[in-house]
Amino acid sequence: MGFSVMSKKLPTIWKAEPHTIAKIELLSAYLKAWFSILGTKPPRRNAELLYVDGFAGPGEYTNHPTGSPIVAVEAATSALNTHEARWRAGDIHCAFVELDAARMENLERKLKSVSFHPRVHPSTYTTSFVNGLDAIKTARPSPFSRAEPLFVFIDPFGATGAPFTAVADILRSRTSEVLINLDADGIARIFRAGDDANRGVLLTEIFGGTSWRESPSFDADFDVQCRQVLDLYKRRLRSLPGIGYVFAFEMRGKLDSINYFLVFASGHPLGLEKMKEAMKSIDQGGAYAFCDADVGQSLLFRFDDPAEFARRLFERHKGKRVPYEELRDYALNDTPFANPKRMLKWIEENDLIESVELLPGKTRCRGTFSEDAVNAVVFRQGAIHAQG
Ligand SMILES: C[S@@+](CC[C@H](N)C(=O)[O-])C[C@H]1O[C@@H](n2cnc3c(N)ncnc32)[C@H](O)[C@@H]1O
Repeated sequence: MGFSVMSKKLPTIWKAEPHTIAKIELLSAYLKAWFSILGTKPPRRNAELLYVDGFAGPGEYTNHPTGSPIVAVEAATSALNTHEARWRAGDIHCAFVELDAARMENLERKLKSVSFHPRVHPSTYTTSFVNGLDAIKTARPSPFSRAEPLFVFIDPFGATGAPFTAVADILRSRTSEVLINLDADGIARIFRAGDDANRGVLLTEIFGGTSWRESPSFDADFDVQCRQVLDLYKRRLRSLPGIGYVFAFEMRGKLDSINYFLVFASGHPLGLEKMKEAMKSIDQGGAYAFCDADVGQSLLFRFDDPAEFARRLFERHKGKRVPYEELRDYALNDTPFANPKRMLKWIEENDLIESVELLPGKTRCRGTFSEDAVNAVVFRQGAIHAQG
């Protein structure tokens, strides 16, 4: 049974599955980094930081004390306390949108029970994500239009409620980022529903246009379809101006794959770097897996084994001179790593690098590929013989 189907029966507060707790931990770890970095190095002095939780929930679970809004105000407080002396940004605003009045009531009660820094300002909107976003934009327009940091967490139940036009609108600003819980399972079911009238309306809303019509081959296996949905969604995000970094983490149930994904999109490499570090830092306990970029393949990933991805990096770039920045972007978008260093080390150990071009005045030791020293890498044309 898909998550979207399950969720319809849930009471005001429900029991969190392990992957839900992992999702909240990932968000918490990322927000600590996000508030800390932007608080101490804002794009301009006193720029306010705006965090929006578009599907906030009740703030707690029957088996877990903190929902996403609570970890957000805690992360904001912790960043302000830790970096008080070096804080250069303005205040932190946390806006929570929740459609269900009983859940919002619970959240408001819960928010009153936690103590947070006086420079953290929570606000609540009992309405839909789309209407809430409009209201937040009216109250705090600058993060939506200027270079003031904005992070939006979009965590609906199921496939609908977060139209692509809203996501695109958020990502119009230079410093905005989103983390979206994409219910590929639910979306694939909509595709499967056949050509009934509503299908076209829903899919056009989810993907922001009609590109879905050319996409998934809907006679494929259901798991493959879910990955095709993810692939199409990522392509839609990448098509937005300035959005160079898009990555998905697969979330797994206890028994088998449940086909939903956390999709992160940003215009800045540091954002994705920190998101990957956050993922690595949480206790995964099998609740998360790296989701391979190739449709139709799922790879349980081990962070300590770069060989598989080093092979792919080499195959993609063999016989070419590749600037370091391009290798970094490849590592961020197409591998689970935050940088290409360990993959390049593996490639060099296997004698597949022709030469390493250094920046003026720099030197390097074999096996090291620091972004401060390396300008470009020239890969051999050859075939990989290495094992392991
Ligand atoms: C998956 S839960 C959110 C969990 C929460 N983000 C967390 O991590 O603790 C989704 C929430 O969205 C609410 N919701 C459903 N449709 C909505 C809509 N269109 N706009 C805003 N909230 C909605 C539901 O009532 C539910 O509380």
